[in-house]
Amino acid sequence: MDMELSTTTLVLFILLAACGITQSLVVPIAKYSGVPNSDITQALTNAWREACASPTASKIVIPRGNEDSGFERALFNMLITLPYLAMVFLTVKNFGFNFMKHAVVRIITSKDSKNFNVNELGCQNFTFDGFKVIAPGNSLNTDGIHLGRSNGVRILNTDIAVGDDCISIDDGSVNTHIYNVKCGPGHGISVGSLGKYTTEAPVEGLILKKVTLTNTDNGLRIKSWPSAPGTSPISNLYYEDVTMINIRNPIIIDQEIALGTNNPSKIRIRNVSFKNIRGTSLTKEGVNLICSSVLSCEQVMLCDIDLKFNGALAVAVCRNVRPTIAGRALPFVAAN
Ligand SMILES: *[C@@H]1O[C@H](CO)[C@@H](O)[C@H](O)[C@H]1NC(C)=O
Ligand SMILES: *[C@@H]1O[C@H](CO)[C@@H](O)[C@H](O)[C@H]1NC(C)=O
Repeated sequence: MDMELSTTTLVLFILLAACGITQSLVVPIAKYSGVPNSDITQALTNAWREACASPTASKIVIPRGNEDSGFERALFNMLITLPYLAMVFLTVKNFGFNFMKHAVVRIITSKDSKNFNVNELGCQNFTFDGFKVIAPGNSLNTDGIHLGRSNGVRILNTDIAVGDDCISIDDGSVNTHIYNVKCGPGHGISVGSLGKYTTEAPVEGLILKKVTLTNTDNGLRIKSWPSAPGTSPISNLYYEDVTMINIRNPIIIDQEIALGTNNPSKIRIRNVSFKNIRGTSLTKEGVNLICSSVLSCEQVMLCDIDLKFNGALAVAVCRNVRPTIAGRALPFVAAN
């Protein structure tokens, strides 16, 4: 069955894979007393039921005015039960996906959100495909997609332009896949920051391929706090085929975010590979691997790194790590 929800400001398509239908039924939520600027949860539920029961393709019509009235809450409460969905969504608000399983979100645009654009917590097997996030480069805390405590999130074919991290992969993120993503402006793609709390869970398993970062502060960043109690490790991260255009810190492991501390991070970083990373750096230090002095980073690999600063090869700075080098490499310089 095909379902379509639309207003003049929201366009949304929901596809349920289970049904295969051709004709069209229109269900205005007004039929179920859904009026603009009111809580439409019940009306939407009823309209949804009718649309779903229809043997023909169906469309739910929501009039303008419901964007701020629990529409998203009502909608996402239902989406939790869907095995498959595809949507086109234009909104000025942000949204959260919490505790969802086996869902696919296609072609959503999230525009000028006030905080995190998408906050994913406790999700399993969740795919973004053809997602778009737009927020001004100078807006604070507008992470594009923030992941936490989620297993099996895939972010595919997605463009993110924001004021903070394009994608932040926070505590408890396991088996994350990022493929064919464009990021910029923004702060780049970050794992962490970790370490602030003892209740954090490990970050394990990231495969990132075919990503272009343009005019972002950081490119690929892994960060943990020094002088912090958390000990959950970060492991098994693989980055390949990344193009950097005018990035301040293209590759950066930073376990000493707060300077002037002599209490190093307790977060162990293990098995991190960067392969075929090319482009331009805005600083001489294209690669910064600054690891914790108590743990060192283990099994870090740099393979075919080709980053230029002012037309010449950039340099790599390492502290408390001995990366394995293969293929093209940047010259190493001593850390300060
Ligand atoms: C993940 O979700 C998709 C549908 O969104 C489903 O087809 C697939 O079987 C799920 N995979 C697992 C491992 O549960
Ligand atoms: C290192 O991480 C990669 C990417 O997640 C994974 O495929 C590989 O099995 C890991 N290797 C070890 C030795 O854990």
